[in-house]
Amino acid sequence: MDAGVSAGFDFQSWAAEQGARVERALAAWVAEDAPAGLGEAMRYAVLDGGKRLRPLLVLAASESVSEGVAQAGRTAIDQAALRTACAVELIHAYSLVHDDMPCMDNDVLRRGKPTVHVQYGEALALLAGDALQALAFELLTPDEALFSAAVQARLCRLLARAAGHEGMAGGQAIDLASVGQALTENQLRQMHRLKTGALLRGSVMMGAACREPDGTIHAATGQALSRFGDAIGLAFQVVDDILDVTTDTAILGKTAGKDAAADKPTYVSVLGLERSRDYVQELYAQAMAALDASGLAAPSTRALRALAGVVVHRDK
Ligand code: IPE
Ligand code: IPE
Ligand code: MG
Ligand code: MG
Ligand code: MG
Repeated sequence: MDAGVSAGFDFQSWAAEQGARVERALAAWVAEDAPAGLGEAMRYAVLDGGKRLRPLLVLAASESVSEGVAQAGRTAIDQAALRTACAVELIHAYSLVHDDMPCMDNDVLRRGKPTVHVQYGEALALLAGDALQALAFELLTPDEALFSAAVQARLCRLLARAAGHEGMAGGQAIDLASVGQALTENQLRQMHRLKTGALLRGSVMMGAACREPDGTIHAATGQALSRFGDAIGLAFQVVDDILDVTTDTAILGKTAGKDAAADKPTYVSVLGLERSRDYVQELYAQAMAALDASGLAAPSTRALRALAGVVVHRDK
């Protein structure tokens, strides 16, 4: 994470502290005792790796809308936000397990380790993905009255939409159908918005939806956060396409050069490196403009701004 200190806000410390909370919560919530090796495969897929960008976006977005909420409401927001941060990461981890399988991208390295199907076999990898997806929704609907039923329902709906046929899974289907195809820029943008952008935008919208009492925020603020999430979500996958070409396997922790080898259309193959980089900067500017127009006080958007910087400047 390379965004720095700005105007009295120490992003590095914020990210380290929030990231540690997420790690502890994931370690506690991802079942060790699931039967027949399933728990081990699930924990292998989720723990000890990953930038945790989506959970941090959830937490930053929930902070951005928490101003003016009384203490009791804040405690509920905090409980909801931590569970949401973990739920989004579980969906992401599941998507990676399946993305790496031989029937999809056929990758052997992920987060610096052998992929789940290499380590545990294809059947257990498939099931680990299934179980992680189910666990995500379980986390959002706790028995305890930790946060309101209205917020729980809203979070489930947002996550389902981000992960399903109108989001990640739909985008992955387009990705697989696009091998060897010459996509137009519009088609490519649509594929990236769904396969990757939807869950990043969803992370922002879910963070905001943690706001008690019922998960609603001012309409203009919601629209601005949606535009912010859209822009960084797309930027994230454009950067992923760039890094696949420009960065070593050792730094990435996943096999570099896979997109060209698999004949996948990417921003680099369609626009070239230079225009792809320019596009990332354009999206970053759109993201900042969206926050400027959000009606949120500038200090409450500092973590979101810094995370947008991470999306754009990351080297892995
Ligand atoms: C990789 O996501 C998959 C894409 C959506 C491009 P990340 O780059 O966030 O992967 P981790 O979580 O840090 O491993
Ligand atoms: C993956 O896109 C998007 C997902 C929904 C997992 P990629 O296939 O480009 O991700 P990497 O490069 O394998 O991480
Ligand atoms: Mg893929
Ligand atoms: Mg892949
Ligand atoms: Mg990639």
